[in-house]
Amino acid sequence: MFPWLSNHPQHLANFQAMMDSRYTNPRTWFDVYPIKERLISGLAAYMHIQPRPTKDSDVLLVGIGGSIGSDMFRFMDYLDAWWIESKGKAIEIPAGRIRFVLQDLPAVVEKIDCDALRRKHYKINSLFEFQGHDFFDVNPVKGARAYYIHAVLRDYDDDECTKILVNIRKSMKRGWSRLLLQEWVIPSSGANFRATRTDMAMMALNSRKERTAGQWEALLVVAGLKIAEIYEIDRGFESLIEAEMA
Ligand SMILES: C[S@@+](CC[C@H](N)C(=O)[O-])C[C@H]1O[C@@H](n2cnc3c(N)ncnc32)[C@H](O)[C@@H]1O
Repeated sequence: MFPWLSNHPQHLANFQAMMDSRYTNPRTWFDVYPIKERLISGLAAYMHIQPRPTKDSDVLLVGIGGSIGSDMFRFMDYLDAWWIESKGKAIEIPAGRIRFVLQDLPAVVEKIDCDALRRKHYKINSLFEFQGHDFFDVNPVKGARAYYIHAVLRDYDDDECTKILVNIRKSMKRGWSRLLLQEWVIPSSGANFRATRTDMAMMALNSRKERTAGQWEALLVVAGLKIAEIYEIDRGFESLIEAEMA
C-alpha cells in the first residue's frame, strides 16, 4: 500500500492528513515516558562543550516511518523549554543543540513540502532533518539515543516486523540506544470492543493484527531486543514500549 501511495500524491496527502488528524488526544508518549532520566540526562554532559552536534550519536530521536512529523514536531515543541538538574543545579538544555532525524520512504520524503513544514514550525529551535529511508534496509543513523516508530508495525506480519526491528537493532549502540515503539497493546483478556474491532479491521484491510504485550515481547526477542518497560498512554489501547538490545 505505501509504495502505491507514494506514487499517488493526492491519496498520499489525504492519508497523511488523516493520520495527522489523530493528534487530538492530549496525552502522548512523552507524557508517560521519563524523558529526562532515559533520554536527556545522558546527553546533557557533553551538550555544553560541543559547539554544534553533527555526529549520529548526537541525534536524540530518529523518527522512523514518521510521515510529515506530527509526533516529532510535537515533541520538539515540548523540548524547547527544557531544564534538567545536574550536580544540584538547574541547567537549560539548549534546544539548538538537539538533533532529530525524520525518516520515511524516499518517494514520500521527496513529496513532503519540507520548507513549508519548517515555516510552520519556525518557533522550534531544535535541529531537524528529513531523510529518505526504507525501513527494510539497515538504519543509516548509527548509535542515536532513541529510535521512535509509531503506528507502523501493526501494518506488518511477524516476519516483516522482525526484518524492520533487526534493521533498527543493527544501528543501535548497546547500553545507549533505545527503541521506542508506540503501538496498541491489547489486553489478553477483557479487551475493549474498540480494540478488538480495530484488530478485526487490520485483518480485513491488511491481513495484519493488533498485538498483546506477550506478542510484542516475542517479536522483540526474535529481533535480538528486549522490553525494558511498557508505559500505558491510553489504557488497553496505545502504549509506549521501551526496548533495548538483548
Ligand atoms: C501508518 S503511517 C504512520 C505514520 C506516523 N508514524 C504516525 O503515526 O502518524 C506509516 C508510515 O510508514 C511509512 N512507510 C511505509 N513503508 C515504509 C518503508 N518501507 N520505509 C519507511 N517508511 C515507510 C509510510 O509512508 C507512512 O508514513
